[in-house]
Amino acid sequence: MTTAAHEGSRFDAQAAERELYMRTFARQPITLVRGEGVRVWDDTGREYLDFLAGVAVNALGHCAPAIVEAITRQASTLIHTSNIYHTVPQLELARLLIDHSCMDRIFYANSGAEANECAIKLARKWGRLHRDGAYEVITALGSFHGRTLATLAATGNRHYQEAFDPMPDGFRHVPFNDLEAMRDAISPKTAAIMLEPVLGEGGIFPATPEYLHGVRRLCDDNGILLILDEVQSGIGRTGHLWGYEAYGVEPDIMTLAKGLGGGLPIAACLAKERASVFAPGDHGSTYSGSPLVCAASLAVVRTILETDLLSHVREMAAHLEAGLRAIQAEGDAGIVEIRASGLWMGIEFDEDRAGAILDRCRDDGLLVNRTSANTIRIAPPLVVSREECDRFLDIFGRAISR
Ligand SMILES: Cc1ncc(COP(=O)(O)O)c(C=O)c1O
Repeated sequence: MTTAAHEGSRFDAQAAERELYMRTFARQPITLVRGEGVRVWDDTGREYLDFLAGVAVNALGHCAPAIVEAITRQASTLIHTSNIYHTVPQLELARLLIDHSCMDRIFYANSGAEANECAIKLARKWGRLHRDGAYEVITALGSFHGRTLATLAATGNRHYQEAFDPMPDGFRHVPFNDLEAMRDAISPKTAAIMLEPVLGEGGIFPATPEYLHGVRRLCDDNGILLILDEVQSGIGRTGHLWGYEAYGVEPDIMTLAKGLGGGLPIAACLAKERASVFAPGDHGSTYSGSPLVCAASLAVVRTILETDLLSHVREMAAHLEAGLRAIQAEGDAGIVEIRASGLWMGIEFDEDRAGAILDRCRDDGLLVNRTSANTIRIAPPLVVSREECDRFLDIFGRAISR
């Protein structure tokens, strides 16, 4: 479909990026100018099926009417004020998130990394108050927790850290899904364990139920906090509102971002009352929880709760997974593993050809992403339809055939 959105565009974004932007992103060679539902269009008018959704952000799809209406209304009412004052959308959202989770208190942030910074500060304060000055946070190898210095140090991947050594002190990394290693790593210095229920950037590796239950027990036995980083797994991605629900394991602290705002930058750190140890002045943020982003988030969370979207996620996830397993069974594409957690899947190949597959998909009008040289990740909008899943399977099946 050709639209006015690209016809008026004379600006060469890709040339401008090469000249002006810091060399941080390995961007795909397309410029996106418009989105609607599960589709986006580039500046030449080409249409793509978006099975990445802003990396698990556009939960309701692009320009979802509920979000557009909510932010349009809020934008002409009150966009930003200071957290020195009370605002209604922020506290309505707090009520909704707390009523529908195991948490008691919330602090808003602007990104996943900032929400995790907040969780790490809570853990350190907890250690100071309740564990004789313990400050260490144990995290998993292969995890991803963000790009600020503390969350980079928490991230269990040297590749992201090396250029910025020395890393801040106070983090230990252990193999994921290895309870013995976790037990061995706990010391009097440990204040908290921080885990993703499903390693997202790491390639969609779910925690085993025994592992998460075991970690919960270790935390209880040692008086340390369990932080679950649900930045990518939260807000329905796994087919549950929160990733932890699939396990029946409650964290003491949970962080959210990505899908929470459906495309607007909002994140949150939630805590149980006993872990909510900040005192006035301990933490703050200028922009966080503004009326505008909270209005968007209210639209997302209400839609999920009021439309039974989670059943839809589980249905579409089963359909997609069955289709992918049928392709795998044909055998000639070299799929060695499909790891699925709701509408969030890692497809691992027997060769390092994720980059080539990604290019072929894009050339054929499908956006996916890779988490490593041999693994493709998909995370479509939660509202993806059966027809869109079938279209994905058709394009993807062709793109991976050898
Ligand atoms: C589990 C997890 N935590 C934290 C982050 C960092 O979020 P942000 O990029 O919003 O800072 C990410 C981003 O991919 C993530 O997947």
